[in-house]
Amino acid sequence: MAEKRDMVQIESLEKYFGEDKERVHVLKGVSLNIPEGSLYTFLGPSGCGKTTTLRCVAGLERPDGGKISIGGQTVYASGERVYVPTNKRPIGMVFQSYAIWPHMTVAENVAYPLTIQRRSKDEIKKRVGDVLKVVGLDGLEDRPAPKLSGGQQQRVAFARALINEPKVMLLDEPLSNLDAKLRVQMRSEIKALQRRTNITTIFVTHDQAEALAISDQIAVMHSGTLIEIGAPHQLYARPTRRFTATFLGLTNLIDGKIVELTGDGQPGKIQTKKGLLSFIPAPGLKKDQAAVLSIRPENIPLYKEKPQGLDNVLEGTVREAIFMGDAYQCKVAVGDDLLAVHTHPFNAVSPGDKVYLHLDPASCNGLPADDKEGIDESMAEL
Ligand SMILES: Nc1ncnc2c1ncn2[C@@H]1O[C@H](COP(=O)(O)OP(=O)(O)OP(=O)(O)O)[C@@H](O)[C@H]1O
Ligand SMILES: [Mg+2]
Repeated sequence: MAEKRDMVQIESLEKYFGEDKERVHVLKGVSLNIPEGSLYTFLGPSGCGKTTTLRCVAGLERPDGGKISIGGQTVYASGERVYVPTNKRPIGMVFQSYAIWPHMTVAENVAYPLTIQRRSKDEIKKRVGDVLKVVGLDGLEDRPAPKLSGGQQQRVAFARALINEPKVMLLDEPLSNLDAKLRVQMRSEIKALQRRTNITTIFVTHDQAEALAISDQIAVMHSGTLIEIGAPHQLYARPTRRFTATFLGLTNLIDGKIVELTGDGQPGKIQTKKGLLSFIPAPGLKKDQAAVLSIRPENIPLYKEKPQGLDNVLEGTVREAIFMGDAYQCKVAVGDDLLAVHTHPFNAVSPGDKVYLHLDPASCNGLPADDKEGIDESMAEL
């Protein structure tokens, strides 16, 4: 099969806001390529530059450097002084506030982009009908917009963004106004819609669960820089940066120094306060380097009796065990530290129990210690 081409290319994107002393560097050389037909997510904490990057792609924000192309066409290039205005870019947008007009019906809202292009009545009717079918709102053409549920309003916004047959859909936190249950339902709908239309989609969110559930690829951002790009499973199970490990769900971090490496993807050994532990190193780690071992709570089997013949077994005492229905969420004291451990609900544990934790080396990721990004680490929440 032929390689998928990149639909959106962003190269060394720079953006500042404000003047003089107030000037802040918001995008610091962001480069990424978005494959055609993919659902690509910008994920990161509030203020990291997700919306700004998206607005630069849309042409709603003028960058201060770099290059952006969409479908092979350069829409912005600092050196060549290219700047294609928003209405000439092949994009559709849906924002957090759907910005649908309350005084209009569903059909009028969706038709709006075509109305301002002065398309014929027949063409508008046909295209609105088609796109309402795609989002599952056919039959509701004449319903006034305020008489729609949150999810239906969301779909109207989608339909309106799709009506011009854009090459790229830009979605900025489109689900954050919905209640928790509808959010989860709309996640699946967006994914299904994206699959059906095969339209290249950039999805912005600060919600890691949403990003994991919906994306083909995730670009993790922090403070205007790109931290790491990967498929959801890869980033969650095998992060190569400390920030990715902590931002994409709960993890335990154990500091140490690397004492042995046997090759890329092969187990190494790290000396920690809790003894010598085996782990899988991130690319680029070196012997004698300060590093951190990261292991997720659900990857730590807990035993009442010391298991024999296993590496990476730590002895501890349960401090807290909260029954969550599908798991016990435990905090286990090992030396001076507390480790988060999630166990199967059949495996009943209580505070005070002496236990053994197996930090399975295959689930232990060795990450560079030196890129603490100054953000909340998971243990802070414990
Ligand atoms: N028009 C503006 N003028 C000045 N500063 C701005 C402007 N827009 C954004 N910023 C700043 O730029 C930084 C990045 O903002 P941006 O909106 O891109 O973040 P974000 O990742 O989308 O965050 P959120 O998850 O809160 O939406 C923030 O520090 C923000 O305060
Ligand atoms: Mg934003």
